[in-house]
Amino acid sequence: MTVMTIALASDHAGYQFKAELKAFLESRGYETLDLGTDGPESVDYPDFADAMARAIVGGAAQRGVLICGTGIGISIAANRHKGVRAALCTEPTSARLAREHNDANVLALGARVIGPEIAKDCLTAFLTTAFEGGERHSRRVGKLG
Ligand code: RB5
Repeated sequence: MTVMTIALASDHAGYQFKAELKAFLESRGYETLDLGTDGPESVDYPDFADAMARAIVGGAAQRGVLICGTGIGISIAANRHKGVRAALCTEPTSARLAREHNDANVLALGARVIGPEIAKDCLTAFLTTAFEGGERHSRRVGKLG
C-alpha cells in the first residue's frame, strides 16, 4: 500500500501545534512534508497557505494540514487556489463530513481555538474517511472548480 504524504504548514501561532501533529502523524505511519514555519517569529499566513497549495496541486502531498491562530486566515488563503479544498474544523464530525461530502484535501485548524487532542481527533477523521462520491456530491465538488 502506498503511504500517504501529509504536508503541514502553519504561521507563528501554530508552529508548536504543527510539531505535535507531525509527531502524531509519523507515529501512525504517515509520511510528512513540513513546509514551516518553525519558530515564534511573526510570519504571514498566506505565504504558508501558498506553499501548501503548491504541494497539493503539484502532487508532493496527497493531504495537508494548515494551522494559524484561528484557522480562518490560512484557510481563506488556501481556498483561493484552484484544486485546494480546505476545511476549517473545530470538531471531528465536520472533519469527517468535509471528506465525505466535500472531498476536502486540506484540514485547517485554529491553535488558539481548539486543543491538541481535539485536533488529533479531527485529523484522524479527516485522514481515514473517503469521499462518498456519487453523482450529487461529485457534481457539487465539480462546481467548486
Ligand atoms: C496571527 O496573530 C493571527 O492573526 C493568525 O494566526 C490567524 O489567526 C489569522 O487568521
